[in-house]
Amino acid sequence: MRIMVSGGAGFIGSNFVHYWTEQHPGDTVVVYDKLTYAGNPANLVGLDVEMVIGDITDTEHLTRALRAARADCLINFAAESDNSRAVRDARPFAVSNVLGAQSLCEAALRSEVPRVHHVSTCEVFGDLALDDPSAFTEDSPYRPNTPYAASKAGADHFVLAYGRTHGLAVTISRSANNYGPRQYPEKNPPLFITDALRGRRMTLYTNHHYRREWMAVADHAAALDLILRNGAAGRTYNIGTGDERSAMDMALFVARTLGLDREQAIRIVADRPGHDRRYLLDSSAVRAELGWAPSTPFAQGMAATVRWYQQNAEWWEPLAAR
Ligand SMILES: NC(=O)c1ccc[n+]([C@@H]2O[C@H](COP(=O)([O-])OP(=O)(O)OC[C@H]3O[C@@H](n4cnc5c(N)ncnc54)[C@H](O)[C@@H]3O)[C@@H](O)[C@H]2O)c1
Repeated sequence: MRIMVSGGAGFIGSNFVHYWTEQHPGDTVVVYDKLTYAGNPANLVGLDVEMVIGDITDTEHLTRALRAARADCLINFAAESDNSRAVRDARPFAVSNVLGAQSLCEAALRSEVPRVHHVSTCEVFGDLALDDPSAFTEDSPYRPNTPYAASKAGADHFVLAYGRTHGLAVTISRSANNYGPRQYPEKNPPLFITDALRGRRMTLYTNHHYRREWMAVADHAAALDLILRNGAAGRTYNIGTGDERSAMDMALFVARTLGLDREQAIRIVADRPGHDRRYLLDSSAVRAELGWAPSTPFAQGMAATVRWYQQNAEWWEPLAAR
């Protein structure tokens, strides 16, 4: 297969490329990435992949790149992805995420790419009360609460509309929160871990009891592999583990793993506006139809993640110093 990975120099995209090149060594992988602050060519060092620097909002350039790559498949991770940045300035999110998704579909249509997969998020569904017994299904209504989530929801609508209107063979996946190596240290867990490693206190909001569903990034990549190979065009799939942890749980896990005292390791600050309480996905479709199941227990995957940042200070120190 000849696969183009847009946003492949970022956190999940680069982990996906690591996974794909390992699982499918005969395939040709082309990464298409704008290399924003979150895109890092160092994430792909040692891999046999081609890198094209480009912006998914540039339809002409992306079309040429897809034709030159003779791509059988395009998977899109490219997005502005940090909620806090979107609160400060939502415009880059509207441009890269919404216009970017439209432009990407247009380029795929023009270059006749047989298959497009778009990576979305659980956050498009809004949030759940902490005591709500339900979970978001693929048919739950879109109720984005934050500018980031709104931009991801807009992207999903464009992708599905290109499928329905133009017959583009699209799938969408909405994943829970990921943890793993090579995540830019602006979000958690790497922000907690790199703060703790530098002797700084990990910063929690007052609502640190709010929960997220956590998944090892390699398990996400395995689900995307199944969707790309066996997912039905026009379908959307939720990908989650059911493993919910509060922000406090995450910080305490990092503190324990690094042998730090709780009081010394944590500080609590005022909340960010529009902070969602909780997301939980019903992932029964991807499990029943495609045979996916997460294979990394949380304690094992998170401990390995903490160790990765411990052992790769040369990767994150220049980023944390920015
Ligand atoms: N991190 C998570 O836990 C999580 C959870 C669910 C869904 N997602 C989604 O997964 C995708 C990847 O997330 P991530 O955490 O790896 O993000 P990231 O910020 O680490 O990486 C994004 C990548 O996209 C590139 N990019 C940004 N705008 C671009 C543009 N206009 N053209 C080309 N490239 C561009 C960046 O250079 C970077 O390499 C995003 O779509 C995000 O919404 C992330």
